[in-house]
Amino acid sequence: MRILAIETSCDDTSLALVECRGRLPAGRQGLKTPRFKVLKNIISSQIKIHRPFGGVVPTLAKREHIKNLPKILQKLKIENLKLKIDAVAVTVGPGLEPALWAGIEFAKELAKKLNKPLIGVNHMEGHLYSNVLKNIRIDFPAIALVVSGGHTILLKMTSLTKWKKLGETRDDAAGEAFDKVARLLGLPYPGGPEIQKLAAEGKPVINFPRPMLREKSYDFSFSGLKTAVLYYLRDNPTASKADVAASFQQAVIDVLVAKSVRAAREYGAESILLCGGVSANKALRMFLQAAAKKLGVGFFVPDFEFNTDNAAMIAAAAYIQKLRGRKNRLIAQSNLTL
Ligand code: KG4
Ligand code: ZN
Repeated sequence: MRILAIETSCDDTSLALVECRGRLPAGRQGLKTPRFKVLKNIISSQIKIHRPFGGVVPTLAKREHIKNLPKILQKLKIENLKLKIDAVAVTVGPGLEPALWAGIEFAKELAKKLNKPLIGVNHMEGHLYSNVLKNIRIDFPAIALVVSGGHTILLKMTSLTKWKKLGETRDDAAGEAFDKVARLLGLPYPGGPEIQKLAAEGKPVINFPRPMLREKSYDFSFSGLKTAVLYYLRDNPTASKADVAASFQQAVIDVLVAKSVRAAREYGAESILLCGGVSANKALRMFLQAAAKKLGVGFFVPDFEFNTDNAAMIAAAAYIQKLRGRKNRLIAQSNLTL
């Protein structure tokens, strides 16, 4: 089936057309995972609009989504849309409520006009399934590290559709920490890519804390690390900002990698999956991949186009949700989780 998916949970307006085939695998082996072909995936970023405010302004995001959605639909250049698609899918949460509503209202209208079913999708399941867009075979059990602007979650997955949350952040999400530390360093929003760039020019020579690294729990905490950077900059005003960026980035990576590896060992994982906007971080990808290799387990991360918010992953999640016979309410659910 072909799914037209819509994503507007934060500051990216995205529409995608994805061909979805196959069934859910019966056993642990991912041999017969559903298969996807991303026919179109357009992402329109609102970064320039929100940048002067240092973060995303929900009402502005909504206004821009409403403006962008019909434009992107046109840009997809799908003739005879009614004949080309079998369902419409839309993110219903988590995310910014006004932004979510923009997508939901648009999707409802479109589905009604085309007389197609509408599938409400959990954005975090979208991130989780961004890894299957590549049609790779994932062996289970797997450990999934979901790191985005709003979430940091460690999952134990026993199949594509069964998982248990091992831990999550107790305060700031990993992406949020990148964004806040970037602001301390005078870098623009979003901070993740900016810190990555600056860190490449520096060395991780400052010993920032690795929060909760040695604790048994699989939870995370990044707000203390952010405060440590704040105090360091206050006490060392001439410090190299590139070294601060590199040291902060390394502290985050060390914690994320150590907990993922410990979970993989404890649960005898066959694979480690990385996803969410922070998975675009090249150093994180490199360190986690190296750790997985050392453990002798598979490592999966989506292609760069599908790390940060995109509608293709929403189509994949919609298809898997349909195969499972599950439904989400078609209202904005800003606190939806995995
Ligand atoms: O998944 P995403 O696009 O949106 C949410 O669902 O939150 O993630 C956005 C987050 C932002 O905090 C951004 O700074 C971070 O992902 N990010 C990165 C990188 N690219 C995006 N963090 C670190 N390194 C990057 N290269
Ligand atoms: Zn996201």
